Amino acid sequence: MPWLTKRALAVDSETQLQSFIGSLAEQFDDPSVDRNLLVRETLAQVMHGDRFETISERAPMAAFSLDPRNITFEAEYYIATDQQKFQQVKPLLWLWKSLDLTPLGQSIYSGLAIRRMLAERIFKRVGKNLKIFQNVEVSVGYNIEAGDDVTLHRYAFIDDIGGVELHDEASISDFANIYSHTHSVLDMPDVTLKKTVIGRGVRVAYHATVLAGAVLSDDSMMGAMSLVTRDFEPHVIGLGIPAKPRIWKEREGNPDFATFQVDSRSYQRSADIRANPDFDENSPFKEDASLIKQK
Ligand SMILES: CC(C)(COP(=O)(O)OP(=O)(O)OC[C@H]1O[C@@H](n2cnc3c(N)ncnc32)[C@H](O)[C@@H]1OP(=O)(O)O)[C@@H](O)C(=O)NCCC(=O)NCCS
Repeated sequence: MPWLTKRALAVDSETQLQSFIGSLAEQFDDPSVDRNLLVRETLAQVMHGDRFETISERAPMAAFSLDPRNITFEAEYYIATDQQKFQQVKPLLWLWKSLDLTPLGQSIYSGLAIRRMLAERIFKRVGKNLKIFQNVEVSVGYNIEAGDDVTLHRYAFIDDIGGVELHDEASISDFANIYSHTHSVLDMPDVTLKKTVIGRGVRVAYHATVLAGAVLSDDSMMGAMSLVTRDFEPHVIGLGIPAKPRIWKEREGNPDFATFQVDSRSYQRSADIRANPDFDENSPFKEDASLIKQK
């Protein structure tokens, strides 16, 4: 028996919501539409119940930050951010983040539908039935590849500057963090981008953190509060800080696991990238294992 049941809105409300989302999607997909103007107008109407021009005359500072050109995201300060790609998705990210502050974004039904439509236009890839709950944050968004039936729960943070794959049925719990960049311990600005891979059916439980470059194989799970610093093989549950393999799910002979989307033992990982060109291979600051000692 499934754990979740279906919910529906009244027919009129459903029609009203679908028409709002459909009209936004159509306009975002029209290259002649200025996404910044569309977002500021939408936010003016949803948040202040009036046209942007009227708000800007009546309350200029309320209008100010409705326009994505007047705000900045942390990712815009990263040297590794592809500014052109980011400017394309920035208005959509601002609409997502701002609507999360409203009843429309906080309601599960409308919030999931709006964020799915936006993510389909922000992420590199989105499969069917993506669910994103309230107050999720991504860094650049355009480096996330999500398969079918992926779920991001409340306050999850996906730092995708180095790329994040979320395979089918992956579930990222409340307050979990997935990173894809790492700083040298010897010199902070020396940043390395490492793709992080969350395999099929993986659960990253409540408040766990996955550090950059980890490959979590299909059907593995990271326990609540764990700190994931390494790869995990299929069916393994990692627990603790740092997470260590502690529990093994018995899947022998189970046809669901005859093949894998992600198996860390054979996964072909992409090369790490030095984010800051000042730190090339010959840099005097290059990480040198002999300069880091454990006592
Ligand atoms: C992975 C998990 C399911 C393990 O639960 P469990 O199988 O019931 O494990 P047990 O309670 O039998 O504990 C087994 C051992 O692991 C330890 N352990 C269990 N969970 C742990 C955790 N999250 N971190 C560190 N150690 C943990 C126990 O202390 C015990 O250690 P011991 O054998 O030395 O005494 C659980 O930790 C978890 O993360 N659940 C997900 C919770 C969550 O995210 N909920 C959000 C809502 S969806």
